[in-house]
Amino acid sequence: MALTSFKQMLRIARREQYAIAAFNPVDYASMRAMVEAASEIDAPLIMQTSAKTINYYGHEALASWYKHLASNVDVPITLHLDHGKDMDMIKKCIDTGWTAVMIDASDKPFEENIRLTKQVFDWATPAGVAIEAEIGEIGGVEEDIIVAEEDAHLANPDEAERFCRELDLGVFAAAIGTAHGYYHGEPKVAFDLIDDIYKRTQTPMALHGGTGLDQETIARCIQLGCSKVNISTNLKHVFVDSFVEYNRNNPSDYEPLKVLSAQFEAMKELFKEKMTEFGGAGKGSAMLKEIRESENMTTA
Ligand code: 13P
Repeated sequence: MALTSFKQMLRIARREQYAIAAFNPVDYASMRAMVEAASEIDAPLIMQTSAKTINYYGHEALASWYKHLASNVDVPITLHLDHGKDMDMIKKCIDTGWTAVMIDASDKPFEENIRLTKQVFDWATPAGVAIEAEIGEIGGVEEDIIVAEEDAHLANPDEAERFCRELDLGVFAAAIGTAHGYYHGEPKVAFDLIDDIYKRTQTPMALHGGTGLDQETIARCIQLGCSKVNISTNLKHVFVDSFVEYNRNNPSDYEPLKVLSAQFEAMKELFKEKMTEFGGAGKGSAMLKEIRESENMTTA
């Protein structure tokens, strides 16, 4: 049984100076591949669904896939909502088994962002569900959310401090210069801003826009305060390319399960590579043990 506290996972990763990989699954097989990868290399995992994926499969199917897969491994795995903008969708995630939700009201004025995040907090907390929220605006394309370069802006550290003082977040997504999708040119990561915000908030930060960031950049972000690294675009490319490549290399093979197996293995390889790169390999069972022990202490 490995359904666990998102907030505690992030705190442990921060203390141990590594980051938990957060991947956006696109179907059951990609969920299964990330769980198998996490289990094989003993890494904690955040499975995070985009709104588009929920609209496609429905809350119930995704929640049941997650429960089935995560219950059969000995590493901590959470189901998170990425960039929740629709309050009804967020509420339904809380009610149907998500262990964490992101409320993204970063396009709203600051006070409105705080108000909406507090509303989600009031729904989530009694259900034991943790929260991610965003300030500033992260650029690029994440599913249906498109933030043009000229609209993207960095988080204000004073606002970040107030936001985290008023809200006990599981993880904090402050815009620090990264962007969703592949980068056109050099990403301009504001390392000083990560440092300043983490020091003021003491809240583990989420690094959005992980696809295309080099290892050195990611390591520095982790060292300064990021404990969750999001990867979505990378998976989409591996998902499509591995399928096409199998067909190109085996043009007369129309056995679907062979194609799916090739795709599955390619996804698994990506997941293992990223989880290892972010420092999570070998950390999963120890994290799970620590979480279980603290739960036993609080219920004893
Ligand atoms: P990428 O598009 O860079 O993979 O970022 C994903 C992300 O941050 C999801 O919120």
